[in-house]
Amino acid sequence: MAEIRVEKLEKAFGDFVAVRGVNFTIPDGAFFCLLGPSGCGKTTTLRMIAGLELPSSGRIFLGGEDVAFKRASERDIAFVFQLFALYPHMNVRRNIGFPLLCQGVPSSEIKTRVEETAKLLRIDHLLDKSVSGLAGGDRQRVALGRAIVRRPLAFLMDEPLGTLDTEFRDLMCEELRHLHDRIKATTVYVTHDQLEAMSMADLIAIMNNGVVEQLGTPQEIYDRPATLFVADFVGSPAMNLIPVADRLSKGAEALTLSGARIAIPEMREDAPGEALVLGARPEHIRFDDASGYRGEIFGTEYLGTMQIVTVKTVGASVKVKVPASINVTAGEQVGLAFLGDRLSLFDKGTGRALRSALHDGAHHG
Ligand SMILES: Nc1ncnc2c1ncn2[C@@H]1O[C@H](COP(=O)(O)OP(=O)(O)OP(=O)(O)O)[C@@H](O)[C@H]1O
Ligand SMILES: [Mg+2]
Repeated sequence: MAEIRVEKLEKAFGDFVAVRGVNFTIPDGAFFCLLGPSGCGKTTTLRMIAGLELPSSGRIFLGGEDVAFKRASERDIAFVFQLFALYPHMNVRRNIGFPLLCQGVPSSEIKTRVEETAKLLRIDHLLDKSVSGLAGGDRQRVALGRAIVRRPLAFLMDEPLGTLDTEFRDLMCEELRHLHDRIKATTVYVTHDQLEAMSMADLIAIMNNGVVEQLGTPQEIYDRPATLFVADFVGSPAMNLIPVADRLSKGAEALTLSGARIAIPEMREDAPGEALVLGARPEHIRFDDASGYRGEIFGTEYLGTMQIVTVKTVGASVKVKVPASINVTAGEQVGLAFLGDRLSLFDKGTGRALRSALHDGAHHG
């Protein structure tokens, strides 16, 4: 298996730059997600790694070797376009072994490798069955088997679960992750679904308009979003982003919202921009009658043991995640308190997170 590294990767289609200055290193054996909205450049980036698209500039290393100008067939990579198309007239064994047959691998070796692969996927008892009679989950495993039987240096997957319904997607996410844990193949997985990325990835690159906005573990991205875009894109419900009127200078330990004092991590330098945005996740806000930051309860959405309560304050609509056991009534006035050490602050002009206590942790890229 192999590390994948891209440096200053760019791709222009005519005047339009689809991917600009992308850098990342995917450690050997990591499950890496390229996450972002439609059109942000995920597929283009993946296709360049695969060798299906030539970069306009930049470098791509696979296992330390510069492959940017090598053809797809010369890169030992499996590109999984569509996990789910099987050959209906072939049995399970022949479906899994087909890529090896195409490569001209001797039949005794095909037999051994197909059987190993089937064992790994726990479908070895189905090898001589017809694929048309299989249950859905087993069909997906056969398709996965066909992708992994070649044992490439890396797997590239472009929204492989895209067409599945939610319940089945969740199952396949688990299946893919378990498979990855067993074979430890470097995997680049493209998705626009933040829940999929957060639940599967070791490392995520969040793309927007052709650039990587943040590179980090799911937890780093959730706890310390580097930009307003990331803060808004990851998390469900999304982080509350509340406009702040104050200009904060070095040493500031609080800001004011509608006249109320809100404690924040100490500012290490002057806030660069005029306008700031306070970021607070719904689970980092609670009801507190003593708080001067007040609003009116607009509605609530029950999630079993928890509920998401929407509170209208002056200039913002704030979502608060609290236990479902707390009684709330629409129209009621409440005070809101923030967990100071979990707050983020952004420069509205650049969209960048400002340095604060939350940002003292490890940084990537
Ligand atoms: N061959 C091409 N010629 C011109 N423009 C292209 C070409 N391929 C992609 N683009 C443009 O580049 C941008 C990025 O496309 P890309 O397919 O990489 O996005 P994506 O992140 O995979 O989006 P999606 O989630 O919709 O699949 C888009 O604006 C797309 O229209
Ligand atoms: Mg795409």
